[in-house]
Amino acid sequence: MSIPVIAFFNNKGGVGKTSLVYHLAWMMADLGWRVLAADLDPQSNLTAALLDEERLEDLLLEPYVAGSTAPRQPNTVRPTTIYGAILPLKRGIGDIMEPVLEKLGDRLALIPGDLTLSEFEDDLSQVWPKCLDQDERAFRVISAFWRVLQQGAERHEAQVILMDLGPNLGAVNRAALIAADHIVVPLGADIFSLQGLRNLGPTLRHFRKGWRDRLVKAESLGSGLRLPSGNMHSLGYIVMQHSVRQDRPVKAHDKWIRRIPQTYYEFVLQESVADNLTVAEDPHCLATIKHFRSLMPMAQEVRKPVFHLKPADGALGSHIYAVRDAYVEFKQLAEKILAKAGLVLP
Ligand SMILES: Nc1ncnc2c1ncn2[C@@H]1O[C@H](COP(=O)(O)OP(=O)(O)OP(=O)(O)O)[C@@H](O)[C@H]1O
Ligand SMILES: [Mg+2]
Repeated sequence: MSIPVIAFFNNKGGVGKTSLVYHLAWMMADLGWRVLAADLDPQSNLTAALLDEERLEDLLLEPYVAGSTAPRQPNTVRPTTIYGAILPLKRGIGDIMEPVLEKLGDRLALIPGDLTLSEFEDDLSQVWPKCLDQDERAFRVISAFWRVLQQGAERHEAQVILMDLGPNLGAVNRAALIAADHIVVPLGADIFSLQGLRNLGPTLRHFRKGWRDRLVKAESLGSGLRLPSGNMHSLGYIVMQHSVRQDRPVKAHDKWIRRIPQTYYEFVLQESVADNLTVAEDPHCLATIKHFRSLMPMAQEVRKPVFHLKPADGALGSHIYAVRDAYVEFKQLAEKILAKAGLVLP
C-alpha cells in the first residue's frame, strides 16, 4: 500500500499553489492527520515558509554532512533536501537516500526543496524515452521522487502527502506529477489561468498515457521496483481571489471566473456542461479563497498560517473575525479535498 500524494498544480505562476499547500498542511495536521509536505519546486518557497532562517542556513549552507565531522566538499551530498535524497542516483553511484525530515509540530513534517533540483531536468528528460527500452535505471530515476516521498511518509507514519510544484511543464514536474494520485488546480481570475487550464488537461492526459505505456514495459522487466500508479486524478479547482488585479473593474475578473467551469469540464474532464454553470454551483469548485490582505504579510512575518494568528501577533479588531473565517474556510477545504480523495482517518 502506498501513501496517497495530492499535488497542487497549475503551470501559471503565482496563483497560490505554495500558500495553499502551506495552509492545508497545517490545517490537516490540526484536524488530526499526519501530513508530509514535499517541496518539489526548485524555488523552494514552501521550505522558506515552513523553516526559519537559521534552520534554512543549516540545511543549505552547512559545511558538514549530517552525522559526519568531515568538512563537506563542494557539491557533496546534501541529504537534508529532496535533491540530496536523489543525488546518488543522479550520479550513478547508488539509489535514492532516505530523506531527512524536518518535523514541524506533532503531525507535520517536510521534505525540504532545493534550488539545485533543476539540475535534474536533463537527466529526467533523457530517461523518459529510455523507460520504453526497459532500462531499469531509467525507471529508478523517473520514480525517484515518488519513492523518496513514500519512504519519508512511511517513516513519518504520514497518512497523506501534499506536494508543491513549480509553475512549468518540464521534466521535473512530469516526474513529480506521475508521483501524484490526485491533483488540485489553483486558479486566478484571469485569462492566463484559463489558458493554463487549457494546457493542463491535455498535458495530464499525455503524461498519464505515457506513464501507463511505460508501466507495461516495467511489468515485463520484472525488477521488483515499486513504481507509482500515475493516476493524477483531478479532484477539482480552487479560485484564488488574491490574484484579482485591483486596478481592473470587478466585471473584468467576473468574466474570467464565469468561464472557469466550462473550461475545466472541456479541457480537464473532457465532458460537456451547461454554459451557465457558475463556480458556486460547480461540484468541481473546491473553494473560493479570499484575498487575506494585510493578514497574509502578518502571518508570513510570524511564520504561521493565517488561521493561527493571535491578537499578540497583531490580529486585532476586525482581523479576529477574518482569522476565524479563514479557519472555517480552510477546514472545509481540507475536509472536502480529503473526502474527494477518498481518505478517512483510521
Ligand atoms: N489568499 C491570499 N491572500 C493574499 N495573498 C495571497 C493569498 N494566496 C497567496 N497569496 C500571495 O500571492 C503570492 C503568490 O502566492 P504563491 O507563492 O502561493 O503562488 P504560487 O502559485 O506558489 O507561485 P509560483 O508559481 O511562483 O510557485 C504570494 O505573495 C502569496 O503570499
Ligand atoms: Mg509556489
